[in-house]
Amino acid sequence: MIGVLVSGKGSNLQALLDAGLPVVAVASNNTKAEALDRAARAGVEAAAFPAVEFASRERRDEELAEWLAERGVELVVLAGYMQLLSAPFLERFPGRILNVHPSLLPAFPGAHAVEDALAHGVKVTGATVHFVDEGIDTGPIVFQEAVEVREGDTAETLHARIQQVEHRLLPEAARLFLDGKLTAAVSA
Ligand code: GRF
Repeated sequence: MIGVLVSGKGSNLQALLDAGLPVVAVASNNTKAEALDRAARAGVEAAAFPAVEFASRERRDEELAEWLAERGVELVVLAGYMQLLSAPFLERFPGRILNVHPSLLPAFPGAHAVEDALAHGVKVTGATVHFVDEGIDTGPIVFQEAVEVREGDTAETLHARIQQVEHRLLPEAARLFLDGKLTAAVSA
């Protein structure tokens, strides 16, 4: 069963739901994330864990991991989750966390991957699905696919094309994992 962490729009969450994957819990650091409404519409249990409500980020991540584990989550998918996970969370789900990122990692990690790729003038960027470790957008790569940068692209037009790829690669990786066909040696 899958737990999904989100911070924003939730189009990747929607792709997981549309693929018929067993998403049983959705959590966000952001109480206003549109993704939480998508979860509710799909009848999936959803909750917000804003860091300000906890003594520390580690405490928040402990509670978040506990909440997911109680719901039988065996795979955690970060679908536009914009916070770094601290050690207590990583230790709870070693080798069981996937992330989707809008660039061909290790190029352009971080929160502004699409803008950074455009600013750099690359002709090709893309999407990456990878296992999560303690770094920022590091960890073993599962899938990558290139997306061409077009003349006149803005961050919005380019990101929209990258997301079409994400919506295909992320459910595929999640399914492989649940079928026991994908494992990662990630040290937590
Ligand atoms: C995606 O492009 C993902 O690669 C990045 O954040 C974006 C989230 O989009 N980490 P959405 O919330 O799934 O629509």
